[in-house]
Amino acid sequence: MTSRSEGLLADGPEVRVWDLPTRLFHWLLLAGVTTSFITVKLGGNAMIWHGRAGTFVLSLLVFRVLWGFIGSPTARFANFVKGPKAIWLYLRGVSPKHLTLGHNPLGALSVVALLGLFLFQALTGLGTSDDIFFDGPLVKDLGSETVTLITSLHKSTEPFLLSLVGLHITAIVFYRLAKKTNLVTPMITGRKVIKDFDREPFDLSLKPNQPLGIQEGPVTWAKAALCWAVAWALVLSVY
Ligand code: HEM
Ligand code: HEM
Repeated sequence: MTSRSEGLLADGPEVRVWDLPTRLFHWLLLAGVTTSFITVKLGGNAMIWHGRAGTFVLSLLVFRVLWGFIGSPTARFANFVKGPKAIWLYLRGVSPKHLTLGHNPLGALSVVALLGLFLFQALTGLGTSDDIFFDGPLVKDLGSETVTLITSLHKSTEPFLLSLVGLHITAIVFYRLAKKTNLVTPMITGRKVIKDFDREPFDLSLKPNQPLGIQEGPVTWAKAALCWAVAWALVLSVY
């Protein structure tokens, strides 16, 4: 971690932007969603693994919602979900008073949409039946009309899920090619080089001589373990 007192590097300092729980959440979500799609297309016995992968995705999403309240500053919804004014200013290229570390106001929209739509998908999966041999765990407690409705909802979202993921990946490629900004490496390593550091003040760890960026330590791991345990307790309670 480079501190402000160590002076400016050519490109600005490298700071920690995403904590390990957020990064693990992201790449496990990608793995879980991919497995859900592959297994549902295989059908047959693979549907058991569709249910397992979908349940794992649900636990990840519940974890992420909790982490959005008590996680590191860049993971907290209150720090990145912004109103229409901030999004409009961002679109017009007006520099914010402070350079924000983490999701920009527009990217935050797509984050909320991805989390919301996949949460809807995983939750409806619990009440979905393929009418052959695989049922979500809530099917036995619901009436047949309700199961039919939930199943049709669960099966109708596929184009929206794929479009949103396509938009997400297109935006990342756009940042790479048009804005010369690599967003993927920080999501892997947790660290990001700050450009234009000398022009823009920081809005996290503002105090002089303090390390910039987010801090990680035993408290982070304890909070993440708590969120993970609560997420699994909630998910297992429906089985
Ligand atoms: C975010 C996680 C999930 C994703 C992305 C997902 C995706 C899908 C998609 C796209 C289909 C439609 C397949 C098609 O019609 O070709 C489907 C069907 C199905 N899903 Fe999920 N699903 C998820 C979670 C779950 C969960 C947690 C369960 C149950 C535990 C579940 C149970 C089912 C069942 C039983 C069907 C078959 C419905 C039928 O063929 O009539 N899904 N899922
Ligand atoms: C099923 C596919 C995917 C889903 C559902 C998904 C979902 C998400 C979500 C929810 C976030 C917000 C992270 C958070 O704050 O917790 C995010 C961020 C991010 N994702 Fe994905 N993602 C997917 C695939 C990918 C792929 C394939 C890549 C690149 C190879 C990627 C790269 C990124 C990056 C770089 C960010 C951070 C964006 C930023 O700096 O604001 N994602 N993704």
